[in-house]
Amino acid sequence: MTKSTRLKRAYVETYGCQMNISDGELMEGILANDGFEIVEAPEDADVVLVNTCAIREHAENRVLGRVAQLNGLKRERPDLVIGVTGCMAQRMGETLFERAPYVDLVMGPDGYRGLPDALENLEGYRSDRGSNSRIRGPQLAILDLSLGENYQGLEQRRTEGPTAWIPIQRGCNHRCTFCIVPYVRGPEKNRNPLEILNEVRDLTSRGVTEVTLLGQTVNSYTSMDLSFPNLLSEVARVEGIRRVRFTSPHPNDVTPELVEVMATEPAVCEHLHLPAQSGNNRTLKRMLRRYSVEVLLEKVELVRAEIPEIALSTDIIVAFPGETDEEFRDTLELMRTVRFDEAFTYKYSAREGTPATRLPADEFIPMPEAQVRLEELIEVSRGIQAEINAREIGRIDEVLIERVGRYPGQILGRTRRNKVVAFDGDSERIGCYTHVGLERTTGATFAGKETSQPELVGQS
Ligand code: 5AD
Repeated sequence: MTKSTRLKRAYVETYGCQMNISDGELMEGILANDGFEIVEAPEDADVVLVNTCAIREHAENRVLGRVAQLNGLKRERPDLVIGVTGCMAQRMGETLFERAPYVDLVMGPDGYRGLPDALENLEGYRSDRGSNSRIRGPQLAILDLSLGENYQGLEQRRTEGPTAWIPIQRGCNHRCTFCIVPYVRGPEKNRNPLEILNEVRDLTSRGVTEVTLLGQTVNSYTSMDLSFPNLLSEVARVEGIRRVRFTSPHPNDVTPELVEVMATEPAVCEHLHLPAQSGNNRTLKRMLRRYSVEVLLEKVELVRAEIPEIALSTDIIVAFPGETDEEFRDTLELMRTVRFDEAFTYKYSAREGTPATRLPADEFIPMPEAQVRLEELIEVSRGIQAEINAREIGRIDEVLIERVGRYPGQILGRTRRNKVVAFDGDSERIGCYTHVGLERTTGATFAGKETSQPELVGQS
């Protein structure tokens, strides 16, 4: 199975969204299958892959800083291969070699099947020239976007634990004018539902009890006559699965059928991420979000009517080009009307190649003004979150213990409604379910006390 003769140890460092984390696991799976040892630090690796995000300029700048830092390792070990993969690799393409000449490999999100071959090519070239020559090159860029690549049949390398990400869809058919994703991940590609269900079953046999279905607009999934609500209920019914989540949905595909499945399948968690982006109709139109504030509010009402316990989170962009102060106030108004449990808030970041960058130059909002709007939005959304969470004190919730806390003896769990709770307990119990009384909140997270003995999972 091992093709490579010298490159043996690989380290993958991931930035960005859950889809990227999942892609990192996929790359590790592909490399492990090719005979690579996956290591936990760049110092121990022959190949370092930085798996990147392109959603905002800030994310890209962080990566450029990081690869410059990794070049320090390469100076000590000229043989070290540095690869940049994922969305930023796709967006920047070969220009990345100009910005960071020490990068050997640039590979977009559809190229990972070819990862072993690409590394072998790089290695072959090096051994021809002798490993000590500080030659730059060859530099390989693999940037083809595919209409069909959904990595069917490949296995991810997952860290052991009670939760797992399941990619069910790649790419996106929307064209939100601010967003780079369709240009770096191509059109929507859905995975075969039978393979997805097999994967879920296999994961339960390894102790996984919670899965999160992933896709860019996850609820537009359709394959083999199965809609997203159909798939969701199938996954929820897999024996051994206690919790199912999904992210990120598009509001337009939050249909009565989907809400019905969420309300009736006991395993589907009472949490919905509903990216609003703005609370103003003119801005939503110019973002090409394809819904109005009124439609969004109807979706919220529908979900709350069927699932009274539901916790809602959202994404908001402030200072989209041309957004007036009044239009921004509409977003604040939306926040006060809906009262989201959590909001992820961003300043608009111009992404080359996206339609919004072609708006008139004088519509772009200066950074200081965008910053003021962002801070006001954060203040409002954090205030609402703190009020909501303060009212939850006294509740007893089921939590899945996920990881160790910040202090010795402290563990962290997550409720079905996606709230994080810290409490005293033994780290050996990661993966167990228990009940915790919520006693205090920082506003965003909780501290509590266990009220029952945890049951062992995966034993039935
Ligand atoms: N600028 C700022 N935020 C963006 N997002 C997507 N593209 C941009 C951009 N160009 C935000 C959206 C999306 C989240 C993942 O990132 O709110 O839902």
